[in-house]
Amino acid sequence: MKLKGEGEIKMIRTDKLFTIKEASEWATKYLGKTVTTSNISYLIQYGRIKKNGDNGMAQVSQQELMNYYKSYNGKREILWKDQLGEDLNWALSFDQYKEAETTKHVHRLHPYKGKFIPQLVEYFLDSHTDNFKKQIYFKRGDIVLDPFAGSGTTMVQACELGMHTIGIDVSAFNALIGNCKVWKYNLDTVQAEINRITKALRGFLSNSHTLEFEENLLQALYEFNNKYFPVPEYKYKVKRRQINEGKYGAEKEKEFLPIFNKLVKTYDIKLKQDKADRFLDKWYSQHIRDEIDFVFNEIKKIKDADAKRIISIILSRTIRSCRATTHADLATLVEPITATYYCAKHGKVCKPLFSILKWWETYTKDTVKRLLQFDKLRTQTFQFSLTGDSRTIDIFGELEKKNPAFAELARKQKIRGIFSSPPYVGLIDYHEQHAYAYDLFGFKREDDLEIGPLYKGQSKEAKQNYVQGIVDVLINCKKYLVDDYDIFLVANDKHNIYPTIAEDAGMQIVNQFMRPVLNRTEKDKSAYSEIIFHIKGK
Ligand SMILES: C[S@@+](CC[C@H](N)C(=O)[O-])C[C@H]1O[C@@H](n2cnc3c(N)ncnc32)[C@H](O)[C@@H]1O
Repeated sequence: MKLKGEGEIKMIRTDKLFTIKEASEWATKYLGKTVTTSNISYLIQYGRIKKNGDNGMAQVSQQELMNYYKSYNGKREILWKDQLGEDLNWALSFDQYKEAETTKHVHRLHPYKGKFIPQLVEYFLDSHTDNFKKQIYFKRGDIVLDPFAGSGTTMVQACELGMHTIGIDVSAFNALIGNCKVWKYNLDTVQAEINRITKALRGFLSNSHTLEFEENLLQALYEFNNKYFPVPEYKYKVKRRQINEGKYGAEKEKEFLPIFNKLVKTYDIKLKQDKADRFLDKWYSQHIRDEIDFVFNEIKKIKDADAKRIISIILSRTIRSCRATTHADLATLVEPITATYYCAKHGKVCKPLFSILKWWETYTKDTVKRLLQFDKLRTQTFQFSLTGDSRTIDIFGELEKKNPAFAELARKQKIRGIFSSPPYVGLIDYHEQHAYAYDLFGFKREDDLEIGPLYKGQSKEAKQNYVQGIVDVLINCKKYLVDDYDIFLVANDKHNIYPTIAEDAGMQIVNQFMRPVLNRTEKDKSAYSEIIFHIKGK
């Protein structure tokens, strides 16, 4: 006979409590892959598992950990293969790499939506072979072409591997990001200019009340959030639906507003600009706008052109982080916000920014650190991203204008092959994602020349134009390639149009590598794969 509550008692007895360190060791064995203590802390922080005990002696339950891992991780490979087919090349998921590695050194110099991970480029360019990649395609000294160079991932990896790269992008700002990543700087000059501008910005700020206002606001938020959104209990309860997040968040947001408004009044903070005509008018508070204009003017005084370019990129990265948007809408701007708000991403009341100083200082340090790291890995090779339309650009002619020595080598040697990820039909507007930078620097926008932008949709006509666009790029680029070229195009070809593209360009698909894409957002756990099409001449 079973006594009342016997099952419960048994469960409690079999469940073990681990310290964070023990939990990481257990999970490492259980999953057969390294689970660090910070991985465990992350699970607690984000309310996936509960923390028992206090900070000094935090413990977690083995049963809860096991349930978590059973629910999602580990199972993914089997599940995805069921959905996407056995030829899914799990090695190409690169899931053993931490985020710090997939965004290593200069790859995270500036945000850019739609880049591929460097390990993928490396896989195809380097000299290893395996069960899937049975041949080496590129060698040191070869020239690689990326006709959709974007933020320059191919250039950076080719530079590490001792290959030259010609990039092309229709967006002038994208080409600038790419070129800034591979450029060799005099880092002493860069650092000296950064110091000068930071000092000037601090001086500029000492005349305003914004820093004091932010300090007080942060303190008030800290107290409020500690009281109503304790970490990690609040998120834990939300996950388990013990709190109605929407209702509670809205209530608390409203409750904090009078405190915010009072501070705004005390410090005479101007939340909006008088005009809203340009991006820079609409998406920044008056104080931030003044600081942006101030720093930009300081940048204009820099004599060293290379330092000027990279510091412009830092300013661009800074102002992107300072747009008047909620944390949740950073990628897709909705409406400018001017007050504190409940932030579902962080599970507390957050605030917009009122000064660029913090991000400016963070990004200046981060950029110099990343440039130094890349300096140790780079090879003495040519890398250049041209601004132009890959359907029509005279590649060697334009290169001649920018780098005659590289153009001479390219004419002599020709291009060995292509590694690129084209835009896809109706997914991203590549100019619009950096609207702030176009507005600030005044680069010419060529939105109309983008192949398959989001704003042109996914209609039948849009697809036909897309096919024609990519075909035209391949035909144009072919003129500059060696006869026995290899082309690798990364695409999530859900409309199955790449076979037509290859055919229309007079080429053939000789192989397809199917790669699982794991590092997607928390919300979207669906199986998703990309294909790397290997294309050759007929
Ligand atoms: C998928 S992204 C490439 C991202 C890149 N692989 C990276 O890692 O940063 C595609 C790029 O193609 C560019 N593009 C679109 N139409 C183009 C055209 N007609 N000529 C050249 N580039 C174009 C877009 O501006 C965008 O940067």
